[in-house]
Amino acid sequence: MNLILVGPPGSGKGTQAKMMVDKYGIPQISTGDILREAVKEGSPLGKKAKTLMDQGSLVPDDIVIGIIEERLGKPDCKGGFILDGFPRTVTQAAVLDNIMEKMSLKIDRLINIEVGDEELLKRLTGRRTCKDCGRGYHVSFDPPKTEGVCNECKGELFQRVDDKEDTIRSRLKVYHGQTAPVIEYYKKKNLSRTVDGVGKMEEVLRKICDIVDRR
Ligand code: AP5
Repeated sequence: MNLILVGPPGSGKGTQAKMMVDKYGIPQISTGDILREAVKEGSPLGKKAKTLMDQGSLVPDDIVIGIIEERLGKPDCKGGFILDGFPRTVTQAAVLDNIMEKMSLKIDRLINIEVGDEELLKRLTGRRTCKDCGRGYHVSFDPPKTEGVCNECKGELFQRVDDKEDTIRSRLKVYHGQTAPVIEYYKKKNLSRTVDGVGKMEEVLRKICDIVDRR
């Protein structure tokens, strides 16, 4: 089962993908997480990506396509995968088609998680992430038991550099201009389904799983 989760920044792609990993036993592939890891390591790729990510712009297509091609070739993707944050441009979607064809695979579904801009702002300004295990929290909607400390591994929680209000607004602009057309691309293939992303995380998960299980 090869799935794509798409939606604006803060719509819950990462949150849902992590819950789906537990349910379906297939890996989450988040280009955002892979790029942030490269930034942390200070690799040449990370240095190139950092400025663009900090200002809320997209990293060039060739960079993320290279990342995805390499990741999809790993053994844990053999039974399927959940793409989180890729493809994000129509060019990336077209190249993904070629990669899938070369691997004799196909995309089974794109799930579009819809959430309005004002709710997204609330979610992103309150988001915190564990430095060690990457578990996500929200200061009001999903707070940790102890402020600033991860429930799972006791790691320190941090706020992402691109979760400042001005940068969030830039990311939303980029999403509406460059990523929303990706949904149309998959609609034409009859692979796109939309889910209302507002509500309890478990409710959103149930709606996504209903679609995935019916495919
Ligand atoms: P990326 O990391 O992919 O960021 P994003 O798409 O902006 O998405 P987010 O991670 O911000 O949000 P999310 O939808 O995963 O929401 P989450 O579950 O965390 O990309 C970052 C950057 O990398 C990009 O700007 C770009 O520069 C670069 N990049 C990445 N991929 C690229 C690509 N393919 N091409 C080019 N550049 C690329 O939830 C958010 C918050 O809301 C959390 O606090 C969570 O607890 C809370 N929450 C979640 N669900 C709910 C709910 N149902 N109710 C209440 N709160 C909720």
